[in-house]
Amino acid sequence: MDQRPIGIFDSGLGGLTAARVLTEILPGENLIYFGDSLNAPYGTRSREELTALATANAKFLSGFDCKAVLVACGTVSSNVMDVLRSRFPQTPFFGVVEAPCRAAVSLTKTKRVAVAATDATVKSGAFARGIQALDGSVEVFSDSCQSLVALAELGHFAAGDPLAEQAVAAELAAVKAWEPDVLLLACTHFPLFQEVIAGYLGSGTALISVGAEAAFSLREYLAENSMLAERDCGEHQWFTSGAAEDFSAMSAKLLGRSITAQQHINSETLKT
Ligand code: DGL
Repeated sequence: MDQRPIGIFDSGLGGLTAARVLTEILPGENLIYFGDSLNAPYGTRSREELTALATANAKFLSGFDCKAVLVACGTVSSNVMDVLRSRFPQTPFFGVVEAPCRAAVSLTKTKRVAVAATDATVKSGAFARGIQALDGSVEVFSDSCQSLVALAELGHFAAGDPLAEQAVAAELAAVKAWEPDVLLLACTHFPLFQEVIAGYLGSGTALISVGAEAAFSLREYLAENSMLAERDCGEHQWFTSGAAEDFSAMSAKLLGRSITAQQHINSETLKT
């Protein structure tokens, strides 16, 4: 048993797609969420900038004595997990690459897996490498869909929202033409567009939320290591480096319940 909280961070709202699943499958866990909206988007940043931001986020969460940190950001997971692990050797970090790659490989029948991600994630090649290390016969098509991040942060992701529908059609046209049977939503913001993307691609393409898969794998790790909390109902704290009121309002929509976010600004604040 380990009653310490789980930390989660992302560049903004995207990590809530992982946090929501965690709260459903591990209702007794205490969670500390940090969305670094002030420095978003992360997907257009250099490795140096990602190193600085991810380190500052992990440092903030380490102040809560977290038993594990879910890096609910495809960009950080693909680019600087090695840095986090070497700078914070006591903390188990869970990224959103390995478990989702395993899920994609076991789900694909046609052996055509597409990856929709941010610029920096596509550039890293981490998902393609992860999939091909598991099964070299799986073809991978990686597509950068960076514009979806900003739209999601502005609240344009629901089915029927013209901006969301247009952006998904523009960003995923190449994926659709390639006809994968599995699409990894390798940026945690993208499952917010689940309905729009499913409608656009049709039922022949299964969608995988990387945050959800990572949450399942974190539960497995905690259970295997006797680190699950023993309580019925955990406490959740939400922090944003953006406007707390805006974050609370958007999060309430995404989590299906009202929350009150607090503002926290890391010492690391970079120009966009
Ligand atoms: N949600 C994050 C990811 O999974 C960050 C997206 C961004 O800020 O560009 O990559």
